[in-house]
Amino acid sequence: MKRKEAEKRIAELRAELDKHAHLYYVLDQPSISDERYDELYRELRDLETAHPGLIAPDSPTQRVGGESLSAFETVEHAAPMLSLDSDPSRAAVEKFDERVRKAVGDTVRVDYVVEPKLDGASLEIVYRDGLLSGAATRGDGRRGESILENVRTIPAVPLRLRSDERASPSFLALRGEVIMQIDAFEKANERQIEQGKVPYANPRNAAAGALRQLDPRLTAKRPLDIYLYDILAVDPDPGVESQWEVLTALREWGLRVNDLPRLVDSVDAIADYHQRMVDTRDDINYEIDGVVIKLNDLAARELMGTTSHHPRWAFAFKFPPRKEVTRVLEIMASVGRTGVVTPVALMRPVEIGGVTVSRATLHNREEVERKDIRKGDRVRVQRAGDVIPQVVERIPEKGKRRAKRFQMPVNCPSCGTPLIERGPFTVCPNTLECPAQLAGRIIHLGSRHALDIEGLGEETAKLLVEKGLVRHLPELFELQAEQLLEFEGFGEISANGLVEGVRKASHAELDRFLFGLGIPEVGRTVARDLARHFRSFEAVRAADEEALQEVPGIGPKMAEAITGFFAEPGTAEILDALMDGRVSIKATAAAAAPTIELEGLKFVLTGGLERLTRGQAKELLESAGAKVVGSVSKKTDYVVAGSDPGSKYTKAVELGIEILDEDGLVELLASRGVDLRL
Ligand code: IVH
Repeated sequence: MKRKEAEKRIAELRAELDKHAHLYYVLDQPSISDERYDELYRELRDLETAHPGLIAPDSPTQRVGGESLSAFETVEHAAPMLSLDSDPSRAAVEKFDERVRKAVGDTVRVDYVVEPKLDGASLEIVYRDGLLSGAATRGDGRRGESILENVRTIPAVPLRLRSDERASPSFLALRGEVIMQIDAFEKANERQIEQGKVPYANPRNAAAGALRQLDPRLTAKRPLDIYLYDILAVDPDPGVESQWEVLTALREWGLRVNDLPRLVDSVDAIADYHQRMVDTRDDINYEIDGVVIKLNDLAARELMGTTSHHPRWAFAFKFPPRKEVTRVLEIMASVGRTGVVTPVALMRPVEIGGVTVSRATLHNREEVERKDIRKGDRVRVQRAGDVIPQVVERIPEKGKRRAKRFQMPVNCPSCGTPLIERGPFTVCPNTLECPAQLAGRIIHLGSRHALDIEGLGEETAKLLVEKGLVRHLPELFELQAEQLLEFEGFGEISANGLVEGVRKASHAELDRFLFGLGIPEVGRTVARDLARHFRSFEAVRAADEEALQEVPGIGPKMAEAITGFFAEPGTAEILDALMDGRVSIKATAAAAAPTIELEGLKFVLTGGLERLTRGQAKELLESAGAKVVGSVSKKTDYVVAGSDPGSKYTKAVELGIEILDEDGLVELLASRGVDLRL
């Protein structure tokens, strides 16, 4: 066939295959047989093999790339991917509705879109000029890992937006959920078992795991599906004014949208919908764990705004969690890093929603009394999402003799100090020396989102404390391999590994260090905000309540908790010791104040750098307000090309984008007042 003819036939075949894929995967309305589809597909593939110059990235044959990645690239989301405020009670929904009406009830008609809360893996996908050009995991909400190659393999994700009913925008970032249908999940698990592999705990894990395969060919084998539900960013403005219109627009662009959303205008109607979903939950072919309520009017949403965690215009009305019945074998008191003593029920292991549970919290002494849980009782246990399982209630057994009531210990089970009562909590006041608290603090400081100390797990931390190797936090940073070798469980390799892990971690980023200290109220996001705002540890430490409240998202309560923490004499002594050569804070961009000089400019990095690492370059640019993105497009402002730059460099030349070398980048940053400290 001549090239001209081939080109025409290829275009026909692609249009035909796209149409059927859309009918089959997006709309669930297949109109031709699988055999016919495969025939068309083969014809296209053969033509493309004969004319490789005609292959296009959005051809249906181009879903599965041939290459395996060595790691995922981190990418910034087009807009923060927040989470949702949630609760399973009607009262909480009433409160939410009240707040909404109070804030915007005078300006707009308050109605809501209610839709199922899908229990899958949240992701961002990006279309540029109508072409699928990015996909990322949610990550920490601001940045995730680029999983474009894997997402391309999901047949329900169009490689190109449709534009016949509505013009496709030049930039579109969407949020959605990747799920695995339950029947597909069960089949996948049968296969795992047949092959002697461990089955997946639930469809969400299976879906999330599939998305994180470095080899897209493996992802392609997993039966993944997707639903899109939100626009994160779009340009030009498509003129949609409500969530309902968003869903319509997404459908018109050929994207897969759930068909269960409804428009409602009262808490009663929300509650009806919720109940209907609870009742049908087991009849639909994917897992849902609640109902998301979204204010329909987009302008009113803007008025309501967001907190640092979640939008004020949406709410997740969760389903009652899954529960199972088992028996309590023992109740013991466990001391956490904050000194709070928690009664914990050790139970006969039971499987709840795919996870085996053998411990559950009883929260505090009042809860144990109120629920009257004793050793030997039959109990109902629930596991909600990722939280610690909890004992919900006792199931009375007629005529059965029961054990004595559980008594909270009088002295700390770890250090023997007399316990004190603080509200409903029982607390060990020996904050600085109690081994259980110290072990808890070490575990937290070494945890993944804090200093991420390699070789330091829960058991090791407990051992270090128990053997007296670490008597207070600063001593963690003085450990010597020889000391460790004396103890069982440590060989040369693990001892050196731990010491090396601690050494590496002792040069820490400010936000991670702040998070790792376990300051009350300071989670990862707040730690990051503090680091950005104050730039140095000493500045955070010295800040008074007023100064703290200048940080967006920090209110009076948080400010008080933070100053209270630093004012504690024992804490101060530990912090002094840590800062006295044991821990040093990296001068990275995370600690640099954002300047507005490079605000909004888009950079792409390619090739090897010498004076900076890629990560440093990225952080420095971001600290100046620039965005670092993964691929070059017309919207890119600068490409920074190091040694041996790749195809991104060629593309930049093609598009006439300004190219900087490393010195040029350093100069640019310095000229904009970015503190480089190279
Ligand atoms: S809307 C800013 N709608 O639930 C509001 N989220 O913490 C964005 N989720 O991680 C969320 N189904 O990934 C929305 N229909 C739905 C959803 C949904 C599932 C996920 C979302 C988020 C989590 C809530």
